[in-house]
Amino acid sequence: MDFIGSLGLQQREGVPSCPQEGLPCPSNSSELVQECLQQFKVTGAQLRQIQISLLDSMEQALKGQASPASAVRMLPTYVGSTPHGTEQGDFVVLELGATGASLRVLWVTLMGIEGHKMEPRSQEFVIPQEVMLGPGQQLFDFAARCLSEFLDALPVGNQGLQLGFSFSFPCHQTGLDKSTLISWTKGFRCSGVEGQDVVQLLRDAIQRQGTYSIDVVAVVNDTVGTMMGCEPGVGPCEVGLVVDTGTNACYMEEARHVAVLDEDRGRVCISVEWGSFSDDGALGPVLTIFDRTLDHESLNLGAQRFEKMIGGLYLGELVRLVLAHLAQCGVLFGGYTSPALLRQGSILLEHVAEIEDPSAGAARVHAILQDLGLNPSASDAEFVQHVCAAVCTRAAQLCAAALAAVLSRLQHSREQQTLQIAVATGGRVFERHPRFLSILQETVMLLAPECDVSFIPSVDGGGQGVAMVTAVAARLAAHRCLLEETLAPFRLTREQLAAVQAQMREAMAKGLQGEASSLRMLPTYVRDTPDGSERGDFLALDLGGTNFRVLLVHVATGGVQITSQIYSIPECVAQGSGQQLFDHIVDCIVDFQEKQGLSGQSLPLGFTFSFPCTQLGLDQGILLNWTKGFNASDCEGQDVVCLLREAIRRRQAVELNVVAIVNDTVGTMMSCGYEDPHCEVGLIVGTGTNACYMEELRNVAIVAGDSGHMCINMEWGAFGDDGSLSMLSTRFDASVDQASINPGKQRFEKMISGMYLGEIVRHTLLHLTSLGVLFRGQQTQRLQTRDIFKTKFLSEIESDSLALRQVRAILEDLGLSLTSDDALMVLEVCQAVSQRAAQLCGAGVAAVVEKIRENRGLEELTVSVGVDGTLYKLHPHFSSLVAATVRELAPRCVVTFLQSEDGSGKGAALVTAVACRLAQMTCV
Ligand code: G6P
Ligand code: BGC
Ligand code: BGC
Repeated sequence: MDFIGSLGLQQREGVPSCPQEGLPCPSNSSELVQECLQQFKVTGAQLRQIQISLLDSMEQALKGQASPASAVRMLPTYVGSTPHGTEQGDFVVLELGATGASLRVLWVTLMGIEGHKMEPRSQEFVIPQEVMLGPGQQLFDFAARCLSEFLDALPVGNQGLQLGFSFSFPCHQTGLDKSTLISWTKGFRCSGVEGQDVVQLLRDAIQRQGTYSIDVVAVVNDTVGTMMGCEPGVGPCEVGLVVDTGTNACYMEEARHVAVLDEDRGRVCISVEWGSFSDDGALGPVLTIFDRTLDHESLNLGAQRFEKMIGGLYLGELVRLVLAHLAQCGVLFGGYTSPALLRQGSILLEHVAEIEDPSAGAARVHAILQDLGLNPSASDAEFVQHVCAAVCTRAAQLCAAALAAVLSRLQHSREQQTLQIAVATGGRVFERHPRFLSILQETVMLLAPECDVSFIPSVDGGGQGVAMVTAVAARLAAHRCLLEETLAPFRLTREQLAAVQAQMREAMAKGLQGEASSLRMLPTYVRDTPDGSERGDFLALDLGGTNFRVLLVHVATGGVQITSQIYSIPECVAQGSGQQLFDHIVDCIVDFQEKQGLSGQSLPLGFTFSFPCTQLGLDQGILLNWTKGFNASDCEGQDVVCLLREAIRRRQAVELNVVAIVNDTVGTMMSCGYEDPHCEVGLIVGTGTNACYMEELRNVAIVAGDSGHMCINMEWGAFGDDGSLSMLSTRFDASVDQASINPGKQRFEKMISGMYLGEIVRHTLLHLTSLGVLFRGQQTQRLQTRDIFKTKFLSEIESDSLALRQVRAILEDLGLSLTSDDALMVLEVCQAVSQRAAQLCGAGVAAVVEKIRENRGLEELTVSVGVDGTLYKLHPHFSSLVAATVRELAPRCVVTFLQSEDGSGKGAALVTAVACRLAQMTCV
């Protein structure tokens, strides 16, 4: 193998290979040497300039605004978390590119937190020059052959193997196992690889080799392997720094700062790729003629300028160029230049490191120079040591300036004035060079004094770290499978939703005919929506949602004014005796009347009672059964208007004229119908869920009359109570139902509404925790507490902005410590549960609007739906998912969703007003 090539420098035919051609030879020798050494001196100001400009280039690149020429690349690596320490298993690691013309295969066994550390087994293979410069397929086939050769020596049998691929070149990663090579560096220049996914190229080569079943699970940059290989207990290291043949660093950046990721959650490891930094303003002043010559002779002219001043592949060559120049100027070796001295690549990193060895250096320098065919004098040898020191000191200082830029970035990213950080270091320059690390440390302390930096040498060149990433990738992949398996039942297909729509239509038809159906299709005796001529003052009650409200509704020409007051219904009252509940209601009314100066007035009252009632008239409603956590005794089967009137009677001196009882869906439809006459459907998605709509009277078997309309309260919360939804019910729905006060009831509601979604999520999180997918399998008491995961958390967690912080805040409040992977999975669980709820709700609305369209024999129906309910109103995506599902399943209906502003209390007052208007007309 010829050194020139292995140095990534190209041999120019017929020209004496002395790059110093044209370099001036000043008269005085020591002056000349000083002048040469001076060139490698970098001032504090220059280092700071490099630090600042590199930091600027990093931040530009993070924002996606980098000017490619001089920029660092800032490549996301999809490594989002530092090791748990729980990683276990056997992993194969293939390292390509970290150490120049060699690749290494390792067998790493991770023993988890408790287990003792197992020394990885490894083997190094030298890569022939023609392979480093030949067709890409040849390189990957070579790698696959080395893999087989290594595994042949191990008792692996035909078990499936998981491999981590350490590929130390700049790559665009689009996943932990998907990475496209941007450009070769460090003496590699295989054809047909740049722009390709190197994982696929390796998978294809392993396939072609066909000897072992190896799954390439992850590809990582060597800096990431170094960072992840940080000894547990020391770290976690959050910066990985490699100075080997090439140089680079990675660090853990806040994901929200990485424009290309569009993530606002957690951290992600960024490979800086500072080797390509070449801002003339900052680097120009420190670039020497030797650097320009080296670049000129390199395989990648003009590229990796910063790396060519630091990387181990180039240090020896820089020294050689200086020595050759000094020799030709007659200052060194008596002006004699041996062929070896003039041969590019003849001085290696190892040589420079030995020459700088404080104890053996002086002796070694002679031996090395003699090997180069030189006969150095003592002063020559001393000069050579100075040159080595100058070149390497500069390299270490420049590396420090770059590291200081990364530290400053971390301070910015974490908004911290001071920073305590562990930096994992890897690479032969650190291992071999006696002073590189110490110079780096000193310079970093100068450039980043507010940072307390500890340097942790990586244990085995990052092999362990790559295995960690592979283990994390394997674990994440396994967890992702378990998560997908767990969430799959929530992901409803169009066919399943269409089936729900069809089943609901069937149940609606049966319910309207009075046949057995899980949809009771209750006539509400509301036959008309308001026509705007209503007038007067009305009292309204609104019971059954999150809050109990008493309202005074003033209906006048100019519109409707509402004064209302919220009162709480303690659980002990909601689940106490009926008498207690209705006495509590009357207490609130009296309190409201007093506050509004209405005491003694007997205003017409509309009662929004949001529970299933068989209505025998506008002011008669027999409660069929409680829902939503209410369970007051002696009410079911009773006319709740009578119960209210009895309570009013019990409270002497109170006059109230209860005119109408309406369901909250009806109240909402009426309230929105007051503004939009197209509003003929009422929808509630709050604590509970339900819908009503204007049905043709002819279709309502139990109400006499064939003309006109009747608003039907569907009570769709009970849809599926006949088991017709069991195919959609998951184990988590079953757990929620069994734990509810009405098991087997309200099955549709229990998949959709606010009272239950939080519980479904909680049960799903408990299941995923028991599988070890979440929270490292640590179950907490709090998460096992019923109703502790509020449905409003879903809305907060799924909000587009700052979601991860929401997740963290909410779950940490629940006493859970979580990783960003955990947070992402919790988010996905919330999304799956709320998406299913919205789609099922959409399928229900589609069934209703299609029924109205077919009722009227219309090609196309334009209709509005009045909607209320906390879940629908607060959840960031619920309403749009409902609308999208309706568009999908009822394409011939143009449906507008109107969010009710004033709740159904206004609607109840309007129903009362209509009733009063109709009553007056019959009196006249
Ligand atoms: C509004 C209506 C109530 C309805 C409630 C449902 O507040 O005025 O009549 O019951 O919405 O939503 P919620 O989320 O409160 O259960
Ligand atoms: C590559 C980096 C790598 C570094 C150290 C550079 O040439 O571009 O990806 O991390 O060398 O091996
Ligand atoms: C009740 C309905 C009500 C809905 C929304 C359900 O639990 O049965 O009557 O409309 O909740 O509040």
